[in-house]
Amino acid sequence: MPEQFPPDNSERPVKRAHIKSFGCQMNVHDAERMADLLAREGYEATENADDADLVILNTCHIREKAAEKVYSEIGRLRVRKEERALEGKETLIAVAGCVAQAEGGEIIRRAPTVDLVVGPQSYHRLPDLLKDARGRKTIDTDFPDEDKFDHLPLPSKKRLMARGPAAFLTVQEGCDKFCSFCVVPFTRGAEVSRPVEAVLAEARSMAEAGVKEIMLLGQNVNAYHGLAADGSVWGLARLFEALSEIEGLKRLRYATSHPRDMEEALILAHRDLPKLMPYLHLPVQAGSDRILKAMNRKHKAADYLAIIERVRSVRPDIAITSDFIVGFPGETDADFEDTMRLVREVGFATAYSFKYSARPGTKAAEAEDAVPEAVKTARLHTLQALLMEQQNAFNAATIGRTVPVLFEKPGRYEGQIAGKSPYLQAVHVDIPSGDEISAWIGRIADVRITELRSNSLHGEIVSPLGEADRGGMAA
Ligand code: SAH
Ligand code: SF4
Ligand code: F3S
Repeated sequence: MPEQFPPDNSERPVKRAHIKSFGCQMNVHDAERMADLLAREGYEATENADDADLVILNTCHIREKAAEKVYSEIGRLRVRKEERALEGKETLIAVAGCVAQAEGGEIIRRAPTVDLVVGPQSYHRLPDLLKDARGRKTIDTDFPDEDKFDHLPLPSKKRLMARGPAAFLTVQEGCDKFCSFCVVPFTRGAEVSRPVEAVLAEARSMAEAGVKEIMLLGQNVNAYHGLAADGSVWGLARLFEALSEIEGLKRLRYATSHPRDMEEALILAHRDLPKLMPYLHLPVQAGSDRILKAMNRKHKAADYLAIIERVRSVRPDIAITSDFIVGFPGETDADFEDTMRLVREVGFATAYSFKYSARPGTKAAEAEDAVPEAVKTARLHTLQALLMEQQNAFNAATIGRTVPVLFEKPGRYEGQIAGKSPYLQAVHVDIPSGDEISAWIGRIADVRITELRSNSLHGEIVSPLGEADRGGMAA
């Protein structure tokens, strides 16, 4: 059970907290949960770092550029902290997230303005850590035995609704795969799955608050193996079956998956569970077996292609997305051509691609056959051009179709609302005149897609409000 925290004390002057997140969705979700905890401690969230009594940088260590960002941010915050001190105001600066875990006390040595360094598994200890940090520099980069999510307060209904009808739920953290390029096993620790009941209870309370879509999060979410009440161990497919039974929840998603853990049961869930959205983020990283081996991915290009074929055989319309690294040490033109061939063969709905960045402590960082920066840049451009072509083709293929859209927030223009298709495409529509935007948020309606503008699809609502609230697929 989540710990009980004292209620907000309205007699205390309100303090302001600003949390800035970098990196993956797990960080985004951690930031939400830290904000919930801080609200209990009398902190109000502020978008404005200059105005904050507490600034938390929730950092990412995955590539050098991401990690270095934190120091330029700290530089800016130091100036503001000094100004505020002259005004008699205290400012606490905390570094959280994966840089905190990886660099620990080194952060305070390099940037003495930082008061607190807290690793990703210790956020439930924030109230005590903030008290300590007032008196002395404080560092907590333990991997505690307890699960932080069991000790973080569940968000209130009001706070959940303010975040919209699509929400994150972390079911698994850490990673045991040790891909040779990756810091995650070091920054997030060993792979741990949350127990089934804890996940279901959280999902039920989210559904009660009005959440319509849950994205299950994990570094290796399809390796999920959670302990159920009867002592059995459930995989992700079984968990989705149970989640499907929760009334109110209309859509289920998950990220990020590893090809090695793409079990048949999960593939079949894409056929059998209407609430499980036709979207699969399955990073492959490279198309050359030689490079995949050096990356310690533990699968070959052909294995990946076979999985995609199998998934498409049960769910032909599924959107496949991926991550790629170009310029891994030793990658030749021929290796890179293998990646291009794999991309052509699969046809991705969208994908992220990165230049290899050597990370301290990882196996690949010891390699001596680095690819020159200019070659990496050229390969990235070539790959991204192809991926963009595929993304446009995927989106264009939706034009003329009718798809159910979950409306999440007001659009950019008056009378417009923004939502997501089952394939996670952004869709904008004009709501019928006279209707309130708020009445449409959280609804699923059938939308006929009419055009593709720069980054989003536009369409027309074909089912009126009232008849519209159903999940699943339209023809
Ligand atoms: N758990 C996920 C990925 C986590 S990191 C998985 O296993 O797929 C997200 C992406 O960042 C990775 O898929 C990879 O493409 C990229 N990445 C990780 N380490 C990197 C590095 N050292 N250099 C460049 N990109 C990297
Ligand atoms: Fe990193 Fe590989 Fe684990 Fe993904 S599976 S988090 S890339 S080590
Ligand atoms: Fe970055 Fe940590 Fe996520 S390194 S990608 S924030 S797990």
